Amino acid sequence: MTWHKAALIDEVADNALTRVEVQGREILLVRSGGNIFATQLRCTHEDDDLSSGTLEDGRIVCGFHYATYDPQSGDVVAPPQDGGEASRLMTYGVRVEQGEVLVDI
Ligand code: FES
Repeated sequence: MTWHKAALIDEVADNALTRVEVQGREILLVRSGGNIFATQLRCTHEDDDLSSGTLEDGRIVCGFHYATYDPQSGDVVAPPQDGGEASRLMTYGVRVEQGEVLVDI
């Protein structure tokens, strides 16, 4: 695993979901409550882009069938509302240095 620049801190809006690409990999950055988390971009249910979802009470909510994830652990907090199943999101280490958001990939 190696640290790579994902974005400038000013490019990552607070209380929002930000899509980035790092080393050819799609990543979701989640800035919430003074923390930044990084997960895989795609919902584990039907592969929807989670950056088009919402951040509610610090949780990622998929915009398609509303599966809900904890951005720190990647755990599924609520399953999709169509009766389907979702599994844990892959997560990545994050640190901020000199105004840059670095992700461990
Ligand atoms: S694609 Fe995300 S909940 Fe269905």
